[in-house]
Amino acid sequence: MAAPVMDPQYLKEIEKARRDLRALISSNQCAPIMLRLAWHDAGTYDAKTKTGGPNGSIRHGDELQHAANSGLKKAVDLCEQVKERHPQITYADLYQLAGVVAVEVTGGPTIDFVPGRKDSMASPEEGRLPDANQGAKHLRDIFYRMGLSDKDIVALSGGHSLGRAHPERSGFKGAWTKEPLKFDNSYYKELLNNESDPELLKLRTDKALVEDPKFKRYVELYAKDEDAFFRDYAASHKKLSELGFISP
Ligand code: HEM
Repeated sequence: MAAPVMDPQYLKEIEKARRDLRALISSNQCAPIMLRLAWHDAGTYDAKTKTGGPNGSIRHGDELQHAANSGLKKAVDLCEQVKERHPQITYADLYQLAGVVAVEVTGGPTIDFVPGRKDSMASPEEGRLPDANQGAKHLRDIFYRMGLSDKDIVALSGGHSLGRAHPERSGFKGAWTKEPLKFDNSYYKELLNNESDPELLKLRTDKALVEDPKFKRYVELYAKDEDAFFRDYAASHKKLSELGFISP
């Protein structure tokens, strides 16, 4: 089947879906889980075998049941409401568009969105997403496998500016920042703050960003310069959302 993307009708549907997603995300206050859905669909990419990635496969039962995806059925079901209104949009595009809109409506940077992703029925094996109990080496193993860099690792980790951990999903508890529905650079400020509220969450992988000197340079930059964070985040998020995707 030819990709429908250059079709002006498809682009029009994307713009309508973007508006629907804005409304859906605002009324359900579900920006964090939508961002997590987009990241977990994309973050399985393996640059060597060109498998995984933002291809909508996360909606399938077996992948949705991977331990890392616990709780994401809620986001898949919410996206279904938009899919019903715009059936020609691929799931792969829809989930990535939801991630972009989630960042925008919570005050984050505008992320360039190029449509045209194809859906896949093939789910990758379990275990491609990062393990929150490991350190810098593990983060590099996982993100380098996707073809991403140290800068991408630190910038994208700023996604934890939004949302919280749920004990019944991941076993962790709490938000990373005081305003988990606001996308800003407070995640980095809290990482560098030794007197940070002990209620705020710092996963092993979050702490790795200040323990590793190469990562820490970016943490310091983003904590003091929100414009630099927004610029780099938007670029890294676009890369993540386009892993393995050749724009038509
Ligand atoms: C939530 C781990 C990177 C966005 C979580 C949770 C864990 C986790 C354990 C809690 C899930 C729950 O209990 O509901 C990690 C690890 C990462 C990582 C180990 C490695 C660097 C990212 C990236 C993004 C992201 C790159 C986006 C760009 C989010 C969001 C939530 C979240 C928005 C909150 C979800 C909600 O409130 O329902 N992450 N994450 N994470 N993660 Fe990450």
